[in-house]
Amino acid sequence: MNLFNVYPLYNVTPVKARGCHVWDEKGTKYLDLYGGHGVISIGHTHPVYVAKLKEQLDKIGFYSNSIQNPLQKELAKKLGKLSGCEDYDLFLCNSGAEANENALKLASFKTGKKRVISFEKSFHGRTSAAVAATDNLSINAPINLQQEVAFLPLNKIDLVEKEIQKGDVCAVIIEGIQGVGGLDEGTFRFFKDLQKLCNENGVIFILDEIQSGYGRSGKFFAFQHHNIHPDIITTAKGMANGFPIGGVLISDKIEAKFGMLGTTFGGNHLACAAAIAVLNVVEKEILIENVNKVSTHFLERVKEIPQVQKVKGKGLMLGVEFDFEVAEIRKKLIFDQHIFTGGASNKKLLRILPPLSVTKSQIDEFVDALKAVLNDNK
Ligand SMILES: Cc1ncc(COP(=O)(O)O)c(C=O)c1O
Repeated sequence: MNLFNVYPLYNVTPVKARGCHVWDEKGTKYLDLYGGHGVISIGHTHPVYVAKLKEQLDKIGFYSNSIQNPLQKELAKKLGKLSGCEDYDLFLCNSGAEANENALKLASFKTGKKRVISFEKSFHGRTSAAVAATDNLSINAPINLQQEVAFLPLNKIDLVEKEIQKGDVCAVIIEGIQGVGGLDEGTFRFFKDLQKLCNENGVIFILDEIQSGYGRSGKFFAFQHHNIHPDIITTAKGMANGFPIGGVLISDKIEAKFGMLGTTFGGNHLACAAAIAVLNVVEKEILIENVNKVSTHFLERVKEIPQVQKVKGKGLMLGVEFDFEVAEIRKKLIFDQHIFTGGASNKKLLRILPPLSVTKSQIDEFVDALKAVLNDNK
């Protein structure tokens, strides 16, 4: 059987990983400044994480959501405490798309409406309503397009107001900082006004923190830079450092009913153990402080590169923008300099999503390598 060929692949085969590095089968070491699409939060194969998963696997790896699972409660309590979102309830699922799917479904259940407001260049996943709320027609099949979604530009609150006044909107969904689209974000004022409009009109305000959450922006959730209180927050990626998991944090505006949401695998014992280990490490190693320190260093160092037009994003969710496309630069960074970086829909942008434990000297290594590659390209 062949694999269904949906991914353009780099010809690199990582077989081992530690911290911010991966090694291929020939023993070549790579600096990982992309974390497999921003998934590696506490560093690859962190010893606390590995020990916790092994220990859990020896006890019980899985049982479905028909029994008591104290690990789910432990995870919810820790996540509430560390994120400052103790007044939300947690629903556990398996991926980012699934988290957004459930968030949109809750909004529709709550309001009895079905139209969604999303934003230009947004990415919310590849399933049903999540992909329909994603501003990329090429990844929407006809079956997805039956969803009703309006795409509006960021930071144009009057357009949002006009759309909401039509009276049929169940949810506004927005990324804390846009990931796949290219690191654009709403202003402080825009987030504040969105929240106000949603509250005044009974629309559910959903913050997609799947990429921007878990400390990556320099606060636990990126929306916390804007002093708002969303109705629903979705999370995944960094949540379990590579173990598949998603979370929906739900405010008390929405009351749970049996059968409203459900999943076979979501919140299983192994996934919870992985997610608890991540929170323990984020707390013990004060990783969010590291994000802010290393981010400041990155911004300083990158100023040395005249070809850089702009740096977008916050914390360790950064986009380095040039006035030319970066595909060749990324290739040279991987194959000549042995550094992984990411791309975005904005083809002129290098996406930097390292483990939150990355060091200043690893950033120095990147800046020197980028200078070398750019000089090669002259
Ligand atoms: C902001 C955002 N939302 C949702 C998703 C979908 O997550 P998943 O690939 O886990 O379904 C992604 C994935 O890149 C994302 O960046």
